[in-house]
Amino acid sequence: MSENVSSLLYIVAGVLFIMALRGLSHPTTSRQGNLYGMIGMALAVLTTLVGHPPAGLGAWILVLLGLGIGGGAGAVIAKRVPMTAMPQLVAAFHSLVGLAAVAGAAATLYAPQAVGILENGHIHKESLFEMALGAAIGAITFTGSVIAFAKLDGRMSGKPIMLPQRHAINIALGIALVVLIAVFIGNESKLVFWLIVLLSFTLGGLLIIPIGGADMPVVVSMLNSYSGWAAAGIGFTLGNLALIITGSLVGSSGAILSYIMCKAMNRSFISVILGGFGGDSAAAAGGDQVETRPVKQGSADDAAYIMKNAERVIIVPGYGMAVAQAQHSLREMVDLLKKEGVEVKYAIHPVAGRMPGHMNVLLAEANVPYDEVFELEDINGEFPQADVAFVIGANDVTNPAAKTDKASPIYGMPILDVEKAKTVLFIKRGMGSGYAGVENEVFFRDNTMMLFGDAKKVVDSIVKNL
Ligand code: TAP
Repeated sequence: MSENVSSLLYIVAGVLFIMALRGLSHPTTSRQGNLYGMIGMALAVLTTLVGHPPAGLGAWILVLLGLGIGGGAGAVIAKRVPMTAMPQLVAAFHSLVGLAAVAGAAATLYAPQAVGILENGHIHKESLFEMALGAAIGAITFTGSVIAFAKLDGRMSGKPIMLPQRHAINIALGIALVVLIAVFIGNESKLVFWLIVLLSFTLGGLLIIPIGGADMPVVVSMLNSYSGWAAAGIGFTLGNLALIITGSLVGSSGAILSYIMCKAMNRSFISVILGGFGGDSAAAAGGDQVETRPVKQGSADDAAYIMKNAERVIIVPGYGMAVAQAQHSLREMVDLLKKEGVEVKYAIHPVAGRMPGHMNVLLAEANVPYDEVFELEDINGEFPQADVAFVIGANDVTNPAAKTDKASPIYGMPILDVEKAKTVLFIKRGMGSGYAGVENEVFFRDNTMMLFGDAKKVVDSIVKNL
């Protein structure tokens, strides 16, 4: 296949990736978007294999084994993983992208003749730069994603871990990294290359360890962005258009998503990247104190009665709805309320659940009509007119401490003003705190009624009572 034809096919794959991103921006088109992405990726892989066929049977077997094992494992894991574990799965997959960038850079360094970057026996300076940068970003992405995975999967405490002098250590490591990259470009030393990788592995871990639970979505998306830039860097070294296009798309879309999430959580992008935002206070606020104040408790029967007699109900879903897989029962409950003439709307907080769009995906799965689902800024003004705010498995996203308590780790995050509704119904299993580990004052308000139990079971019995 000529270079022109493979370039053309890579551009077609790039266009398919752009169409995939476009499709993924809305639940109605997301399946189609996924399909475009898969076709684009298949085209890119085939073009590479046909344009630069592996030399000999052994190489073919290695490539096919890699595709089979990687693709097979990916398919099985993706099929088995529950929706609630998706963020950690994404973090785990990103770590592999980072590792692939390191492996790609190392392979290029050890066999530069294979990719035609040699001149008079030396590797081009710009290729050395791209290689070093790709390996460094890839290594940072790898350890950073492994820590993000461990925190999201509960294998490591979600609370920020603060090292003394962490900023000074990170800055020193950053400077050392720049110096090593300059030395590597000068002397092509393999030892220096591995030192760059080692230093970057350390830096990746140190950057993510101090970041607390509430900032984790931004971190995952930021690491996604890093992995894209690492791939693009290696793409330049290998002269591979598909890697450059794909890496840039992943890099820029991840950066844009991080920015949007930072805005939604009222966090500064820079402070999240530098690590530890709100961390000191998060550790201090902790969720470990035992709460003894009384709360008003109700039954499914009470909830059914209150909602049946309401005119307007706003539903606020959160992580607990995802854990309980209560979306189908919820839809059933809403259908019954609508039959009673109650106006029902859903209010979605941008970081409700554990990944962007988490609630939207679950509600779409239960065939909730899109025109009943509203974003925070479009519905927040309606809580004072609502008779009932029905909070199902949400906690942090309703916590007014975000507005008033400067010491709270969620301070500054916009919240859904559920406490302004006439009655607030909270479904949760007990008095457990949310992801950020802080107490929610709304539980103790006069207009709040707690409905304790698994979200699905409680909603099912409300349905029976309706
Ligand atoms: P959370 O604040 O995590 O609260 C969820 C609540 O659900 C918990 O308080 C828990 O209380 C309850 N729960 C758990 N399992 C349940 C079940 N089976 N039935 C009923 N209730 C159950 O959730 P949220 O309000 O959706 O806020 C999301 C938080 O996660 C934010 O802090 C956000 O920053 C963070 N985060 C978001 C993302 C993205 S991008 N969405 C990613 C990572 C982290 P009990 O234990 O008492 O039942």
